[in-house]
Amino acid sequence: MVQIAIDGPAGAGKSTVAKALAERLGILLLDTGAMYRAFALMAIRQDIMPEEHPDSVWDRLFDGFKLDFAGQRTFLNGEDISDEIRAPYVEAVVSQFSAFRHVRSRMVALQQEIAAGRPVVMEGRDIGTVVLKDSPNKFYLSASEEVRAQRRHLQNLQKGLESDLDSVKELMHKRDTSDMNKEVGQLVASPESIYIDSSEKTVDEVVEAIISQLVI
Ligand code: DC
Repeated sequence: MVQIAIDGPAGAGKSTVAKALAERLGILLLDTGAMYRAFALMAIRQDIMPEEHPDSVWDRLFDGFKLDFAGQRTFLNGEDISDEIRAPYVEAVVSQFSAFRHVRSRMVALQQEIAAGRPVVMEGRDIGTVVLKDSPNKFYLSASEEVRAQRRHLQNLQKGLESDLDSVKELMHKRDTSDMNKEVGQLVASPESIYIDSSEKTVDEVVEAIISQLVI
């Protein structure tokens, strides 16, 4: 059974690569960033600010947190929230919500439950270091800051969203800094993971690079 961890900063191409890889191998894909985004969206809607709260506040949110995935879409308690979780107001606070210890331990437990005993491609920030730490198949995908910002900018335009390259760069830099400096679940390339720089590579080339190094 193959369980593949793909970590890396925003815009490194994780989502595209993970999706292509999961399709190639015919196995489940779990976008763990979408889970943190959905959680942040639910908190915002309930006026829970991204600040320290007693565990019971987070537990109450988790009690009403039911996620389903169908193809490329994410459903929160039956509602399709796939587009809303990419909105700038979620983007701006998701890293802060994902930094709380209790939120992370509940989310990691949920992710491990979903992945238990089945082949899966999981992409995120702490998959190789925490969620699938025993898997021999860990990859860290990155690209230069310039390339990552350009990709995100293009993605926005393709989705018909307004986008300004400099603001994209600034927001991305802020989120990376925040993701790398969290006390728990921070983005780090584990020494056991295989590092792939995607700046000059196509999606197919990255997928091939991963497949050729899989330990089955
Ligand atoms: O991959 P993404 O950009 O959709 O992730 C959204 C946020 O969630 C990101 O700022 C970091 C956080 N995240 C995390 O802390 N751990 C993960 N495994 C995945 C995402």
